[in-house]
Order: sequence, then structure tokens, then C-alpha cells
Amino acid sequence: MSVKSVVRSYWDLRSQTYDRTVHKSENGAKNFWKDALRDTIRMDRNLNILDVGTGTGFLALIFAEMGHKVTGIDISRCMLEKSRNKADKLRLAVDFMHGDAENLPFEDETFDIVVNRYLLWTMPDPEHAIDEWSRVVKSGGKLVLIDGKWHDSTIDMRLRRLFNKMKALITEKRNPLIFERYYYNIRCKLPLFVGSTPEDVADLFTGVGLRNVSVDHLERLREFENKPSLFLALGEK
Ligand SMILES: C[S@@+](CC[C@H](N)C(=O)[O-])C[C@H]1O[C@@H](n2cnc3c(N)ncnc32)[C@H](O)[C@@H]1O
Repeated sequence: MSVKSVVRSYWDLRSQTYDRTVHKSENGAKNFWKDALRDTIRMDRNLNILDVGTGTGFLALIFAEMGHKVTGIDISRCMLEKSRNKADKLRLAVDFMHGDAENLPFEDETFDIVVNRYLLWTMPDPEHAIDEWSRVVKSGGKLVLIDGKWHDSTIDMRLRRLFNKMKALITEKRNPLIFERYYYNIRCKLPLFVGSTPEDVADLFTGVGLRNVSVDHLERLREFENKPSLFLALGEK
């Protein structure tokens, strides 16, 4: 099985629990994220925005609610089914498409903003992925990436991971070992599997020629999401 097939199969399965566990308070979270995105991205209205690895459409739907024209793309059809259902319920017109983040089906310079959240760690070729995302940003547009350092060997991080596994099992009724089962054999093929730092992403952004690269450490969101590491990197084309 190829790396991408494993990734797709995992997320097809995870689609059943993703919103229940990651977005426990979706409406509360939305307001926090909206504020953070407004503060950091400084957007006009009616922009053409692409959310890569959109999953159940969390960011895509936020941008659509803010009045933008949004496309979301994902490799998992099951995640997309969830995002489409949510868009229907909210009566929002978002174009949710099936496709590969590393091989986007769009012309060069199509979007004002290309955004992605929690995606880079699962890319087999992060440099190529960022080059591809930058390719479809219009000149003068922005690439926005939200990520964090998800695993490291500090005691604090190990305890946190153990706690999260127990929480998944007990309170979320989700088997955390399923993630290990899918990702264990492919993790060595995912260079940023442990997550990334702002410095990693800034290097990748400048490497593909993005300018005015900045990082926001999303302090308030970090607390709200209970994530020790979370940041938003922005580069201009
Ligand atoms: C951790 S989830 C993040 C979902 C969403 N961005 C969010 O913030 O809630 C990662 C998503 O990336 C998608 N994904 C993984 N590899 C992909 C690829 N090569 N192309 C497109 N989507 C991909 C998965 O299917 C999954 O929906």
C-alpha cells in the first residue's frame, strides 16, 4: 500500500470521530479562530480562498461565513462527506473537492489565499507541498500555514501524549492505537511527522520565494485548544 493510500484510509476511518473529538465546542472554537485569522491575515472581503487538507471543513466554513469564495480539497472522501453535510446545514456554498495536496488540480496563481491547518506533518514531501501551495497563490496573495510541534521526547510532551491517549479511550470512546496502527509504518516516510517549528516553516516559505514571512504564536488559541505548540505562518507571494 502506498503512503498516500494509508493516509487516505486512516482519515476515512477517522472521519467518524474527528468532529466529536477535535471540535468539541465547534461554535466556541469558531469565534476564537475567526478572531485570530482576522488579526493575523488582515483580509479584505470576497477573496478567493483554498483550504488544503480541509478535512471536515473547519477553516473552509469559517472563511465562507466571513463572506469569501472558498474551495476545500482533501484526499479523504469520507472527510469531505462530513464537510459537505456541514456546509448544507449552514447553507454555505463551499466547493469541496477530492484531490491531492501535493498535486493540486488548479492553474498557477488561482487563489488570493491558500490556507492549511494541521496538514504539513502528514506530507511525504513537505518542500514540494509548499511549492505546490505557493504555485496556486496569486502574485500579491498569501500562503497561510497553521501547525505545531506535536511530538518530542521531553517528559512534559510524553506525559501529555499519554494523557491524551487515555482521554481518547475513556472520555472520547476512541481507540488511540488505530492512529499508531496506520501511521507506525509510514512515519519514517513523513519528514515532519513530529510536527514543525515556526523556524522550519519560515525556511520552507523563503525556500520557495515567499516574502515578508511572519509567524504568530496564537497565544490565546493555544490556551483555548490546550496545545503547547501552535503557530500560524504567513508568507506573501
Ligand atoms: C489533521 S486533519 C486536518 C483537517 C483540517 N485541516 C482541520 O484543521 O481540521 C488532516 C487532513 O488532511 C488530509 N490529507 C492528508 N493527506 C492529504 C493529501 N495528500 N492531500 C489532501 N488532503 C490530505 C486528511 O484526509 C485530513 O482530512
